[in-house]
Amino acid sequence: MATNFPLCATCILAMFAFTTITASCPSKVKKLTVYIQDVAPGAPNATSIVVTGDPSTFSFGTIIVSDDPLTIGVERNSTEIGRAQGIYVVSSKDGLNYFLSASFVFNNNVFNGSTLEIEGDDSRLSEVREYAITGGTRKFRGATGYVTFQTVSSDPSTKYSVRRCDLKFRYGNI
Ligand SMILES: *[C@@H]1O[C@H](CO)[C@@H](O)[C@H](O)[C@H]1NC(C)=O
Ligand SMILES: *[C@@H]1O[C@H](CO)[C@@H](O)[C@H](O)[C@H]1NC(C)=O
Ligand SMILES: *[C@@H]1O[C@H](CO)[C@@H](O)[C@H](O)[C@H]1NC(C)=O
Repeated sequence: MATNFPLCATCILAMFAFTTITASCPSKVKKLTVYIQDVAPGAPNATSIVVTGDPSTFSFGTIIVSDDPLTIGVERNSTEIGRAQGIYVVSSKDGLNYFLSASFVFNNNVFNGSTLEIEGDDSRLSEVREYAITGGTRKFRGATGYVTFQTVSSDPSTKYSVRRCDLKFRYGNI
């Protein structure tokens, strides 16, 4: 019996330690690459519309709303894993900057129903644009990080373009 006591004490200590570890479960870091498939306003089956302003001249205050497929690969017929839904605003008077506020709304089986919030202001002429990941829902609660956008193809005749999005963010632990 006497030998059982230290075992029990160890057990209790282990249970206590486990509870503590669970309560302060470390957040996770995730890297993810997805592609935005966009058909600009005016083209057949456009995935973006102009709310106000003139996107052809990038006039200050122009607002575009998009509901673009997010795919796992660069090809147009690649598997969709979500939608990039949000607004682009020409936010600088010289027409060079866009303010972006969008949600990546996942619809694949793993992250279905979870969202990431993307927000920021960057030069539309930069080869790599960077925006903040300011939050998330469901599986991505507490998300913070950043995403870079890079245009990988753009066809002015069909207004079809593809942007590569590299995301890196921390989430969980709330
Ligand atoms: C637009 O969408 C319809 C229905 O999905 C499709 O049949 C048509 O080919 C599309 N047009 C273009 C130009 O993509
Ligand atoms: C996607 O389209 C290409 C041709 O453009 C074709 O070779 C490929 O098999 C298609 N992939 C899927 C998953 O449909
Ligand atoms: C995602 O969730 C919606 C609503 O709950 C459901 O209708 C849909 O089938 C789900 N999709 C996948 C791929 O699990």
